[in-house]
Amino acid sequence: MASRSCFCAFLVLFLVAFEPTCKVKATDIPPPLCRRVVGSSAELIEFAVNLEYLIAEFFLCISRGEGINIIAPDLVHGGPISIGCATANLDSATRAIFEEFGIQTVRILRTIFQTSSLIREIPMPQINISVETLRSLVYAALGVNNLTPPYNIYANKINLLTASTTFVSLAQQYLRGISPYIVGDEFQQLTSSVLSTVSGNFGVLRGELFRNENVTVVPYNFNLGTLVERGAQLVNRLAMCGDKDEGLTLQFEFGNATNIIPFTPNFTAQTRTAREVLRALYGTGDATRPGGLLPRGATGRIAEKIVTLKLN
Ligand SMILES: *[C@@H]1O[C@H](CO)[C@@H](O)[C@H](O)[C@H]1NC(C)=O
Ligand SMILES: *[C@@H]1O[C@H](CO)[C@@H](O)[C@H](O)[C@H]1NC(C)=O
Ligand SMILES: *[C@@H]1O[C@H](CO)[C@@H](O)[C@H](O)[C@H]1NC(C)=O
Ligand SMILES: *[C@@H]1O[C@H](CO)[C@@H](O)[C@H](O)[C@H]1NC(C)=O
Repeated sequence: MASRSCFCAFLVLFLVAFEPTCKVKATDIPPPLCRRVVGSSAELIEFAVNLEYLIAEFFLCISRGEGINIIAPDLVHGGPISIGCATANLDSATRAIFEEFGIQTVRILRTIFQTSSLIREIPMPQINISVETLRSLVYAALGVNNLTPPYNIYANKINLLTASTTFVSLAQQYLRGISPYIVGDEFQQLTSSVLSTVSGNFGVLRGELFRNENVTVVPYNFNLGTLVERGAQLVNRLAMCGDKDEGLTLQFEFGNATNIIPFTPNFTAQTRTAREVLRALYGTGDATRPGGLLPRGATGRIAEKIVTLKLN
C-alpha cells in the first residue's frame, strides 16, 4: 500500500482516483484544538494568501516605504490600506534582501490568483504593522509591560529580524501542513513551488538571526538570541499546539547544539493549521477573535468557516 500511495503522486491520470490513499493516516488524529480546518485544495491555498499579503506588505514597507497598494494596486482587491507602513532603518544589503522577498511575494500572490479561478480573488485583509502593534508582541514575548526607550521595530535590522522571520515561518508551517491534503496536478505544483520559495526565505532569515545571535539589542540588556527564543515561546503559547517554534540553540545534557533551522525529530518541517496561525497573528490565542496584525481578521472561505463554526 505504501509504495502504491507514493507511486500515485507520479501518475497524473490516477491522481484523483487514488487520492484517498495519499492522505495522512487516520490514527494520527490531534486534539480538537489542533485539528485542521477541512477545505478544498483551492480553499486551503486561498487561506495562505493572507500570509503572503502580510509578508509582501511588511517586506515592501520596510524596504521601500510603500505597500502592495502602490507596487501592485490590482492585487489589493478592494482591501483596506495597511496601518503603520514604514521604511525601516536598514543597511543596503539587508534592504536588498527584504525588497527581493517582498517583490517575490507579490509575484507569488499573482501566480496564486492566476493558477485557478477556484482560488477566489479575496481582498487583502486589514493589516496593522504599526510600531505599537509589533512593540506589544515583543513585550508579550519578553513578559514585560514596558522598555525604556520604547521598543522600535523599525529602528534597525536587529530589532526587525525576529518578527520578519516569524511571519515567514508561519507561512512555511501552514503550507507544509496543507500539503498532504492538496489534490490535483496544478494545485500540488503551486503549493510546492510557493512552499519552496517561502522555505528559502526562511533559511536566509534564520541564518541572519543566527549570525547575530550574540548581538545586544541596543540599548537593552538582552541579545538577539534571547529575543528569538522568547518570540518562539510566545508563538507556541498563542498557537496552543506544541513547541513547534524554537530558538537558535538547543540545550542537551551533553552540551548545546545550534538550531538554525528547526525541525521535528524526524527532520521534517513543522506544521501549523490555519487556526494556530490566526491565534498567533491575532495575538489573542483565539482564531475567532481578531486583533494584533490582522485587526479585522483574515479573509477567504477558511477564515469565514473558522468564525461560523466557532473554531477558536
Ligand atoms: C493598530 O494597532 C495599534 C496597537 O495595537 C493600535 O493602538 C491601533 O489603534 C491600531 N490601529 C488601527 C487603525 O486599528
Ligand atoms: C554566541 O556565543 C556563544 C557562547 O559564547 C558561542 O558558543 C556561539 O558560537 C556564538 N554564536 C555566534 C553566531 O557567534
Ligand atoms: C548552553 O547554553 C546555556 C544558555 O546559553 C548556557 O548557560 C550553558 O552554559 C551552555 N552549556 C554549554 C555546555 O555550553
Ligand atoms: C518519525 O518517523 C517514524 C518512522 O516513520 C514514525 O514512526 C514516527 O512517528 C515519526 N515521528 C514523528 C515525531 O513524526
